[in-house]
Amino acid sequence: MWILGIDTSCDDTGVGLVRDGVVVVNRVASQTLLHQRYGGVVPELASREHTQVIDGLVQQTLNDAGIEVSDLELVAATRGPGLIGALLVGYTYGKGLAFALGKPFVAVHHLEGHIYAALAEHPAVRPPFLALVASGGHTHLFEVKDWGDYRLIGATLDDAAGEAFDKSARLLGLGYPGGPEIEKLALQGDASKVPLGVPLQGQEGFSFSFSGLKTAVARALEKGFAPADIAARFQQVVAQHIVQVVFRAARYTGISTLLVTGGVAQNAALKAELQTAGLRLLFPPRGLATDNGAMIALAAWHTQARNPQNQLALPAAAYLPLSRAP
Ligand code: KG4
Ligand code: ZN
Repeated sequence: MWILGIDTSCDDTGVGLVRDGVVVVNRVASQTLLHQRYGGVVPELASREHTQVIDGLVQQTLNDAGIEVSDLELVAATRGPGLIGALLVGYTYGKGLAFALGKPFVAVHHLEGHIYAALAEHPAVRPPFLALVASGGHTHLFEVKDWGDYRLIGATLDDAAGEAFDKSARLLGLGYPGGPEIEKLALQGDASKVPLGVPLQGQEGFSFSFSGLKTAVARALEKGFAPADIAARFQQVVAQHIVQVVFRAARYTGISTLLVTGGVAQNAALKAELQTAGLRLLFPPRGLATDNGAMIALAAWHTQARNPQNQLALPAAAYLPLSRAP
């Protein structure tokens, strides 16, 4: 069964093809260069760019797999959450394509897509497990009680983890997106030189907080600390903060399997720190951590197998909590 998956929730146009649950093609048209000079995503520009590239990207994806559009048996697209103008481009395109082909359409929650991306290489994993989605827009910790049954146990009180990387990178004079830039600069730095505290240290609960860190980064720069040392310490405290929260959640729920997904899951310092928590860790394969279309097709493949639906009537939603699947 060929499934086409589309994600246009933010600034990347993602189109992927999954056959019988296996990723065959995953194409992402990045808008990084378009938004770089603004230091963040400009929603109107993102929507326009999605509109311009989506049809060609779908054609290329089908060509890569050597199939025709008529070979598709299901079309899936991100319903939300995300930038509504951007979401609507891929969602409406996907619906139109499914309708024209007379095939079912599946609406996918963006965070559920991220979770299935990390399961791509671990087909034997079964709930319950914990899932941390750490990206530019989200820092959410879920307890996945059963397939399609999610309980949000912790989230950020302010900025998302990726957002903290992006904003701090900007302060440090680095490019966008900031995560990979900080990771590179941190390799030349000495974290022990900068007195930057771990957020919410000593507190109970499962909340994250990252906005104080960017103020601390600005202050450390004013005090004359070297950018590489600040980058190294920043990354270290982000990792320590995340590990403290997930460790508490693992103890509280009695669940020792943790799936880590979203762009920030690519960070090597975070991965290394997580290895110290004594948990069984699941990371997405390369290319599936950041936003993409294949993860949307994967989620559709799994949800459709359990509960076949045609969701042409569901509207897109900028705000969309993830709880029990509809
Ligand atoms: O999942 P994603 O592609 O998009 C959202 O849904 O937001 O995540 C993008 C975010 C950006 O904030 C980026 O700076 C961050 O993930 N990121 C990283 C790394 N690679 C990407 N953060 C830390 N370390 C990285 N290596
Ligand atoms: Zn995402």
